[in-house]
Amino acid sequence: MKNNIWRQSLHLEPKNGWLNDPNGLTYFKGTYYIYHQYSENPNGGMKLWYGYTSPNLINYRDNGIILKNDTIFDKSGVYSGSAYNKEDKMIFYYTGNVKNEGNYDYIHEGREHNTIKLTSKDGINFSEKECVLKNIDYPNMSNHVRDPKVYEKNNHEYLILGGRDKKDYGCLLIYKDMKYYKTVYSNKNMGYMWECPDYFMLNGKEIFVFSPQGISHMYSEYYNTYQVGYSVIEEGIENLELINNFKLLDHGYDFYAPQTFLDEDGNRVLIAWMYVPDSYYINPTVKFNYQNCLSIPRVLKYENGVIKQKIHKSVESLYDREILGEIFSEKAWYFNKQDGEKFEIKIDSMNIKYDNKKMDINLNETGYGRKNISFDININDIEIIFDSSSFEIFINDGEFTFTSRFYTNNHNVEINSKNYKIYKLKGIEVK
Ligand code: FRU
Repeated sequence: MKNNIWRQSLHLEPKNGWLNDPNGLTYFKGTYYIYHQYSENPNGGMKLWYGYTSPNLINYRDNGIILKNDTIFDKSGVYSGSAYNKEDKMIFYYTGNVKNEGNYDYIHEGREHNTIKLTSKDGINFSEKECVLKNIDYPNMSNHVRDPKVYEKNNHEYLILGGRDKKDYGCLLIYKDMKYYKTVYSNKNMGYMWECPDYFMLNGKEIFVFSPQGISHMYSEYYNTYQVGYSVIEEGIENLELINNFKLLDHGYDFYAPQTFLDEDGNRVLIAWMYVPDSYYINPTVKFNYQNCLSIPRVLKYENGVIKQKIHKSVESLYDREILGEIFSEKAWYFNKQDGEKFEIKIDSMNIKYDNKKMDINLNETGYGRKNISFDININDIEIIFDSSSFEIFINDGEFTFTSRFYTNNHNVEINSKNYKIYKLKGIEVK
């Protein structure tokens, strides 16, 4: 294939290079700040922060590389971090990665994970980097402690970090007003490392989201290399002792390291990296010198004991004219079916089918290693956002989601169903 038909139209993705975790998401004084992990090499390498600003999550300004590995605290990479607003500025925390030269395993030896703070008023110019926590501040830990996020409660700031302890158990470290407060484990084995922790209030419940590594083969429904899920913290962060519940946030192949922030309406919005690291499947866009994208923004709600994900209004505003008929050729389109009846969607050699309480997602060769999969599920309503090389499925009011990349050789679509609606989707604008 000479021309790239996989360029996304409503997902942020690099022009060249590699993208991973969303970072530093916030809405501050009328502007959205969206950053992500970035490497100039499409296969990954030295990690930096790349940034966009937007008034509405539709029109973006591409601000390029924003944070570089230019201090002794982050010389081997500007790793993931987050932002929050305090009075007249934004405060950012991220992990400065340092790999010392030598014969080390870089897990228990040879590595520093520094927690670095900086502030900004415009998201482009920053205060000097200040190293606020170092390896010695992480008791009983390996060298892997990273991805700071701040949760504010009762005039206290809880800074959380994902960790791997000396015995290779995943855990959560909590600092209260910058003093070590406690380390929290889980009652079931939840792997060796908890990446990208997030913690927030959602419809009156405290929620902890994290990306644990090392549980993929322990439980059969965890077929990805790493998982992403959430735990409801009924007791509140100050009384939290043990993570005792966990549910997956998404059931697809390409969803990892999500981060949340509050939008202009006060909604809790989630954006994820659309890939899972160390996967056995690939993204053929590498031949066009780039790889990976961010998910669409999704509004989170906690209802009837579960988190539901809904399509953000910025994406809804991209719904264009209705497409009539069952055969058409479109790259970016929206499917909506509310009657719970069967359907089949075919694009090139892939198909998504639902009948008799069973959904089959057969990516075949368009999956580039992503296997065909079936779910026993009772679908009442379904919405799907298709972009040139991705689809995001929202079932039963967003209670079940499935996020995946796919790479077809054409965009010829065929639908077999009744009572559905299809709209063409406009793209976001990046300048
Ligand atoms: C998750 C992650 C983070 C780390 C970053 C480095 O994908 O491994 O834990 O900060 O990516 O790019």
